[in-house]
Amino acid sequence: MKTQLEGIMNQARELIAKAADIEALNELRVRFLGKKGEITSILRGMGGLSPEERPVLGKLVNELRDQVELLIEEKLTELKLGNKARRLKEETLDVTLPGRVRQVGHLHLLTQVMNEIKEIFLGMGFEIVEGPEVELDYYNFEALNIPKDHPARDMQDTFYIDTEVLLRTHTSPVQARVYEARVPQIPLRILAPGKVYRCDDDATHSPMFQQVEGFVIDRQISLADLKGTLLAFARQMFGQEREIRLRPGFFPFTEPSAEVDVSCMMCGGKGCRTCSHTGWLEILGSGLVHPRVLEMAGYDPEQVSGFAFGMGVERIAMLKYGVDDLRLFFENDLRFLRQF
Ligand code: DAH
Repeated sequence: MKTQLEGIMNQARELIAKAADIEALNELRVRFLGKKGEITSILRGMGGLSPEERPVLGKLVNELRDQVELLIEEKLTELKLGNKARRLKEETLDVTLPGRVRQVGHLHLLTQVMNEIKEIFLGMGFEIVEGPEVELDYYNFEALNIPKDHPARDMQDTFYIDTEVLLRTHTSPVQARVYEARVPQIPLRILAPGKVYRCDDDATHSPMFQQVEGFVIDRQISLADLKGTLLAFARQMFGQEREIRLRPGFFPFTEPSAEVDVSCMMCGGKGCRTCSHTGWLEILGSGLVHPRVLEMAGYDPEQVSGFAFGMGVERIAMLKYGVDDLRLFFENDLRFLRQF
């Protein structure tokens, strides 16, 4: 029996010494010390021994088990240290590698431009008011002097929910809503930003886009007030060297009406591809609020007058940042968005 134990000891010593890695060592632990392991089995087989022999052998087996356990622990420490030494040698740390930059998002260009427009008009004493995107035919057209059969409706074809409810085609209905709520209050200096909808879809038109409507109602408001306000806006938005010009236009809710151009920021007005060699870029529509609109609102057109204007935010952004296709704003391609 003793020789058998010595045999196990020798074998264990040899195998443990040769164990190449922690996994192999664990297998040896199971083989010798596990529930069905070689040493444990001997303890189990002691039932057939005489009462005198049992404690003697029991002691020997326990000693053997302790020794094997010790050998395994020692080897384990050795293997672990070896692993660490090898890793220290193999895994070099390159302190010149660039760090990992966490990606931080930012406001969409259109939001930035919208904020910029609001800031400029807030600075001139305007108040910001918003209206609903799902609008009544009455506010979108009728109250703005565009009756049901008016041909101007064709230019603003939109999405109808039913015959009287539609997605607003412009932010001008906010005029009518504010008049209704505030008449006869003066002065009014209102800026109405928001989304609008039309049946249009190409490189310069989107079925959804954003507008800013502005209007001022007070005594003796004239085209001079309109021009001064818009010139101040154009210079803050596009640079102090800019000029503006008013061209005759037509809108049913203004009389007279004017298209407003800004001198081209690409060429400084000399003429280039962006401005089709005219030196001017159209940025908005405007005019003096039509007396009929004031009358419908409940103001006395003999006592008060006003100017109004409406501009497309995408168009302003395209001109200021040289974006040549409006669809880029809505595709959410990071290669585009990250540029601003
Ligand atoms: N609502 C017009 C449009 O969307 C823009 C506009 C033109 C607004 C002239 C105005 C204005 O207030 O006076 O085409």
